[in-house]
Amino acid sequence: MSRLRGLIRHPLGQAIGLVITAYLLFTIGIAYLPGLLGLRSAPVPRSVVLQYMLTALVGILIYVSHDEERWRQFKEPITALLVLPKTRVLRGALLTLAPLLIGWLTFQQVRPRVDTPIGLRSIHPAPPGRITFQGRQLELTGLENPLRHRGALEEHYETGRGIYYQNCLPCHGDLLDGNGHFGHGFSPTPLSFTDPGTIAQLTESFVFWRVAKGGPGLPREGAPWNSAMPAWEDFLTEDEIWAVIIFLYEQTGWQPRRWEEGGGEGGEGH
Ligand code: HEC
Repeated sequence: MSRLRGLIRHPLGQAIGLVITAYLLFTIGIAYLPGLLGLRSAPVPRSVVLQYMLTALVGILIYVSHDEERWRQFKEPITALLVLPKTRVLRGALLTLAPLLIGWLTFQQVRPRVDTPIGLRSIHPAPPGRITFQGRQLELTGLENPLRHRGALEEHYETGRGIYYQNCLPCHGDLLDGNGHFGHGFSPTPLSFTDPGTIAQLTESFVFWRVAKGGPGLPREGAPWNSAMPAWEDFLTEDEIWAVIIFLYEQTGWQPRRWEEGGGEGGEGH
């Protein structure tokens, strides 16, 4: 009992105790204590724990060294371990194990890993602000479907339906669910427009960009892309693309995302 008390009183014992307490606080403490109080908690990244530990270590060293007597007591066992003849065996063990431990830790850090990276593909990458469409500059940001303010909606719908059945059906399917005849042949599969995660999330300008530029127009961040979606600017006019977009929304019943609602990105990654 008195030995234990001596250890707790000893500056080295205190320092070690503080290091352990700090570590437990930074890992388990931060991760679980808020949970016990009914608050939201989150695991702490290892780099943050390391940073906090370094700060704590500096504080502890300042504490043990700012008083002459405490500093002497703190160093005493360390000096004994490193110098005295009677601690030779312990010293030998320490000087062998410490480099081995550090070497092993370093090896773990630099070891090449083959884990699959997470979040490989973003389904809705950020669209460019402007594109060249059939050789012409087109500003995408804030762009609305011009056909909604011109002529009759039913007419555009009919035109769009014709275009859809002539061009999009084999992949996106007659129910617009991505199950066209050729659908299963592709990876990624053609998207289902009835799914709330596709055109329902997008501005019409984003959809225009995707239809016009297709798989080849996807930015690198979308990699690994192997999209079979053709670039329709080579086959359809601007109005035809806007018309097929009207058909997609009318047929599925989705409302396109509006620019006022912070649709600046046109969509978000998944
Ligand atoms: C050869 C098969 C094929 C044809 C034909 C095709 N698509 Fe696609 N489409 C795809 C594939 C595969 C994807 C999913 C990969 C991607 O987003 O590029 C896709 C994705 C899309 C997207 C993106 C939706 C989103 O949520 O990002 C739109 C919009 C689209 N197609 C519209 C059309 C329209 C309109 C037509 C007809 C004019 C058409 N597609 C014809 C294969 C096809």
